[in-house]
Amino acid sequence: MENNEAQDHLQQVILIAQGFYARKDRAHDFEHALRVREWGKLLAKEEGADATIIELAALLHDIGRSGAVEKTHAESSAGLAVNILDKTGYSEDIVLRVRDAIVAHSLEAGHEPNTPEAKILYDADKLDFVGAIGLGRLFTLGGVQGWPLVGENSCETFYLDKIRGYQKHLYTKAALIYFEPLLLFMEEFWRGLHAERLKLVLSGQANSI
Ligand SMILES: [Fe+2]
Ligand SMILES: [Fe+2]
Repeated sequence: MENNEAQDHLQQVILIAQGFYARKDRAHDFEHALRVREWGKLLAKEEGADATIIELAALLHDIGRSGAVEKTHAESSAGLAVNILDKTGYSEDIVLRVRDAIVAHSLEAGHEPNTPEAKILYDADKLDFVGAIGLGRLFTLGGVQGWPLVGENSCETFYLDKIRGYQKHLYTKAALIYFEPLLLFMEEFWRGLHAERLKLVLSGQANSI
């Protein structure tokens, strides 16, 4: 594919992808896909993987979240991505590699990422759930789900059960290096939050909060 032609195809994919991302779920909106794309490009450079596959996969990886038709959102996104890339004129090889990466970006479908591109997409997606951006997304998701800050089924339990667990399940060394300080930032946030709550309880303004 010539350079101009490749740019043209990419622009078409961007426009189509944008239309699929629901505006109600801001934790998984088009901006999330754009950030995953940037993380993916960075990891691709450091790990030596195919940036084109990762870029396309990142842009399309959550398009099946709104109105999922398959068992999982990863499978729905992969199916839609195949149609979009086919119609845009990408080669079968590219289409299949993008599909394989998207289908394995969430372990809920039981697919393990086993290509460098799939591993990078998986890791790039998790990097968008740590740091200040990760906290913003966590509370956005909590708002949609109706989760309290702390306690049972809360933003904090999602953090403890899911986000913190990602650290042990990243596939690339490069991702782990970026992940660790961003996770520490979140740990610090929760420490601060509990210190504030304790202070309020101790000052007698509330029995429990
Ligand atoms: Fe996803
Ligand atoms: Fe995602």
